[in-house]
Amino acid sequence: MTHPVVRRLLIDLETPFARHWHGGDVFRTAFSNALSMSFPLGEQFFIDSVRAGLKALPESEGERFAAEVQGFVGQEATHRRVHALFNLQLERQGYANVWEERIRRRLPQLQGLDARHAVAATAANEHFTAVLAGWLLSHTEWFTDTEPRLATMWMWHASEELEHRSTAFDVYLALGGNQRWRARWMRIVTWYFLSDLAVQTWSNLKHDGVQWRWSTWKSALSYLFGRAGLVRCSFGAWRAYFRRGFHPSQADGSPGRRWLDEHREAYTAVGQH
Ligand SMILES: [Fe+2]
Ligand SMILES: [Fe+2]
Repeated sequence: MTHPVVRRLLIDLETPFARHWHGGDVFRTAFSNALSMSFPLGEQFFIDSVRAGLKALPESEGERFAAEVQGFVGQEATHRRVHALFNLQLERQGYANVWEERIRRRLPQLQGLDARHAVAATAANEHFTAVLAGWLLSHTEWFTDTEPRLATMWMWHASEELEHRSTAFDVYLALGGNQRWRARWMRIVTWYFLSDLAVQTWSNLKHDGVQWRWSTWKSALSYLFGRAGLVRCSFGAWRAYFRRGFHPSQADGSPGRRWLDEHREAYTAVGQH
């Protein structure tokens, strides 16, 4: 069994980048910025949930998952740090992070509940990120005109999301989590994730004053619903989560492995477990 490898990304995030860094496209930039804004707090929640899940496992099971969870935590902690640096630039560009506040308001609802709820919510989020990651890595054409260091950041993150896509799910199963709650949490997470993403994207577009431009919505339509678009290409993969017998490892992890193989100059591996 291979465990997630922690990699330090060798890119410069101190030098400011262009406001519409994603190929000069206002919608794609606003959408990707929104996703990034959710990561520092969201990924901390994933780390805390999986750690609490590990603690709730019987000792022998806990030992079986220790190295895997350590790799997962190391990867998500690195993602948080890198996206916090990226988000600092967004803050300097005047964008307001409204997504964080929405997560913060919701978190107390899970306090005191069985650890499996937070792990199931994490597994659902991780499926979302893995689906998104698979799409990004197989449609790199969207990033052709993007500043290379930023394209690298997104592809590295996507590759690691694919690499650790089973961790939270396997911890949930080991905790005896059932299919009914797994599906229920996916419905809840889908609602929150999509509404938060829409609110944050709208806020970013509004800050630029481009929310009513026809070109903005034309880009949104092709990015989301066009032939190579996110929704059109990923809906089936998202829905597979509701299937009995679903497991994240059934998705193809090779685009991530390939990217990591072909871009060894972009990172150093910190820990091999
Ligand atoms: Fe991540
Ligand atoms: Fe993740």
